Amino acid sequence: MTNSPESDARAALPEETTNSTAEPTVVRPASGPLGVLTPGMGAVSSTFIAGVMSARSGHKPPVGSLSQTGRLDDGSLIRDAVPLASLDDLVFGGWDPISPNALEAARTAGVLSESDLNQVSGELDRVVAMEAVFDQRWVKRLDGTRVKPITSKWDQALALIDDIERFNSSNGCDRTVMVWCGSTEAYQEPSDVHETITSFENGLKSDDDNISPSQIYAYAALQSDVPFINGAPNLTVDLPCMRQLARDRNVPIGGKDFKTGQTLMKTIVAPGLKARMLGLRGWYSTNILGNRDGEVLDDPENFKTKESSKLGVLETILQPEDHPELYGNVDHVVRINYYPPRGDNKEGWDAIDIFGWMGYPMEIKIDFSCRDSILAAPLVLDLALFADLAARAGSGDVQDWLGFYFKAPQTSNGAPVNDIFAQLDVVKETLERWRRR
Ligand SMILES: NC(=O)c1ccc[n+]([C@@H]2O[C@H](COP(=O)([O-])OP(=O)(O)OC[C@H]3O[C@@H](n4cnc5c(N)ncnc54)[C@H](O)[C@@H]3O)[C@@H](O)[C@H]2O)c1
Repeated sequence: MTNSPESDARAALPEETTNSTAEPTVVRPASGPLGVLTPGMGAVSSTFIAGVMSARSGHKPPVGSLSQTGRLDDGSLIRDAVPLASLDDLVFGGWDPISPNALEAARTAGVLSESDLNQVSGELDRVVAMEAVFDQRWVKRLDGTRVKPITSKWDQALALIDDIERFNSSNGCDRTVMVWCGSTEAYQEPSDVHETITSFENGLKSDDDNISPSQIYAYAALQSDVPFINGAPNLTVDLPCMRQLARDRNVPIGGKDFKTGQTLMKTIVAPGLKARMLGLRGWYSTNILGNRDGEVLDDPENFKTKESSKLGVLETILQPEDHPELYGNVDHVVRINYYPPRGDNKEGWDAIDIFGWMGYPMEIKIDFSCRDSILAAPLVLDLALFADLAARAGSGDVQDWLGFYFKAPQTSNGAPVNDIFAQLDVVKETLERWRRR
């Protein structure tokens, strides 16, 4: 390559990535600490933070994290080939109306053993939860006490913006991402207040009932140029006003609802049935779960939010409109039952009624005794690192390519893909585009 003024200018930039088919993309380097803020410091968040701390001390490997252990098609490790922030550079913070800090949250959640927690307890103890913006109307089963004593929603948003600024300056971060690990809120449909940034801001000022706490966090994040990732099925950034804000400020957003447990299994098995053109008559899914999330989801209004994100996956994988004789008449039922003895160790049963040659019926049973937060924690890590990567690559608005991680992927055109293998291809294609050259 001859040295043109343009290439000289590029050479001055520390990270340059190119795509063989698209324009070169310059990715700003991942220099300095990356703040990871989680509204919600419960089972998932504390398991994620403890796991990263254990991985950096070499105590436990980051199993389940594509960013740390996955490879691109040429065999190179993603974390070497793509200019990601290093685990050593992550600093953690968050908000919670109950947990005082990440160590207490981890102990309450009971996901990790005392011996694993002991290895990182000093560090975990220092991750103190900030007072939350919380309203019990949205999460009836929780009684928050560590809550900001501010009633105006507009002032709550300003207080969260101040929290972010304070966190960044005390930790020396000029890059921060926010991953919602808070509870699932009561079900809601979008309303007029969610239409534009102006209507939303007016709604904050008039304390509109349709604005939930998670939306106030998202607004604060986007106004602070902090990417927002939604791990719960709440509407949060799946709203026209948030899309407009993310586009205007060119900030990445993504969601919704971490794909773990039963939906993970569903999006692994269903593409296989479809690949062999086997028919499906019904899919009955039921879970028992005994952690705080299970307790919150025991309320019908909160479960309805979760149900709507879980039900959508089969249709987009099976495409009944193309194969009505195989997938045109499917009964799909999802249940979650709160059962305290199981704690975070969820058990999910699937009874799948399929049919084959000449229409003969067959049954598949899946009994997945999983650990909810063990499956979710590596997703928080990947999403934090990839959202930061997207921001440095100048890619704002909805990150369709992160659909791999979600039960109900948010997309820019409203046409989600749920087949996990197709989703993985898109992740790798995007990482290829932003890899180091
Ligand atoms: N664990 C999984 O596999 C999984 C999968 C998909 C989605 N999720 C979702 O992730 C979220 C976290 O799950 P979890 O198992 O850690 O639940 P959890 O109940 O242990 O933690 C959630 C925390 O959020 C806090 N919280 C509630 N409202 C808040 C607010 N307004 N501001 C700040 N904090 C708030 C609660 O006090 C609680 O500590 C839930 O919404 C859950 O549905 C979890």
